[in-house]
Amino acid sequence: DWTMHSFIDSTVAEIRAKVGSDRVICALSGGVDSSVVAALVHRAIGDQLTCIHVNNGLMRTGESESVLRFFREKTSLTVIDVDATEFFLNALDGVADPEEKRKRIGYGFIEIFEAEAKKLGKVRYLAQGTLYPDVIESVVFRGKAPIKSHHNVGGLPERMQLDLIEPLRELFKDEVRELGLELGLPEEAIYRQPFPGPGLGIRIMGAINAERLRILRQADVIVLEEMKDAGWYRKVWQSFAVLLPIQTVGVMGDGRTYEHVIALRCVDSRDAMTADWSQLPYDLLGRISNRIINEVRGVNRVVYDISSKPPATIEWE
Ligand code: XMP
Repeated sequence: DWTMHSFIDSTVAEIRAKVGSDRVICALSGGVDSSVVAALVHRAIGDQLTCIHVNNGLMRTGESESVLRFFREKTSLTVIDVDATEFFLNALDGVADPEEKRKRIGYGFIEIFEAEAKKLGKVRYLAQGTLYPDVIESVVFRGKAPIKSHHNVGGLPERMQLDLIEPLRELFKDEVRELGLELGLPEEAIYRQPFPGPGLGIRIMGAINAERLRILRQADVIVLEEMKDAGWYRKVWQSFAVLLPIQTVGVMGDGRTYEHVIALRCVDSRDAMTADWSQLPYDLLGRISNRIINEVRGVNRVVYDISSKPPATIEWE
């Protein structure tokens, strides 16, 4: 439509004027925001843009592989991939505090982007998909501490060498989706639920390790499959599993078990600034719970989070 066209035209012109003959890197997670930024900046400056996909070891099962396959096969973007799994898991070793996790992940990303920029040469800008609600929730608000350091806003070290290009800074998610469709991205890239930059790292309460990642990844796949099969995936803002830092008693056959608890978080929202817990059908809740308990070794209990935002937040950390 007309407003989107004029937004694209004016933003493309601004990006060209700002960048000149420099080069730009874009942090491409494969989520809606970064995909739309990459497409928009590419329209403005073509091959002066290089996208960098970082696997931080906190992605969903198969996520990095499918993101890379999509962009390399279906688009003309140049995408470098960096597998930084070990680097991030080492940096997070033994870290249980939510803000400390966010900071270490944010700093890790910047370190990697700067190293890649140096290798490419002539890179002056980092493009990223910061939206309006990210800006609001990360700034120091009337003298109060920020709610959470979103890695792509508050987490940036002051000393960062690269200047930022954030063309979505004034948009809400539904506008970003409309923009992405207008730019020619397919629905599979646009109608994805948001996934936070720190990934599964902020869905594992307490310290992160390989075993806890294994449990959460398996539960996460089941939640996604069941939501999609039931036709609920697109109806909600987000639906995901959280691994709690406690074990509870259960029974299997005639033996006692003492295993992990998965919380299911599913919310309706327009812009993530406020949210309601989703009223999923009981039979869908039941299928998700049964499958997680039967299929994921180490889990004997599933609970449903019925808190709205505020006063809770969407993610648990
Ligand atoms: P909260 O938990 O603050 O989340 O209610 C609001 C929305 O933001 C997402 N989220 C993030 N996205 N980097 C991101 O790119 C982050 O650090 C981050 N933390 C939360 C969250 O999934 C929800 O959609």
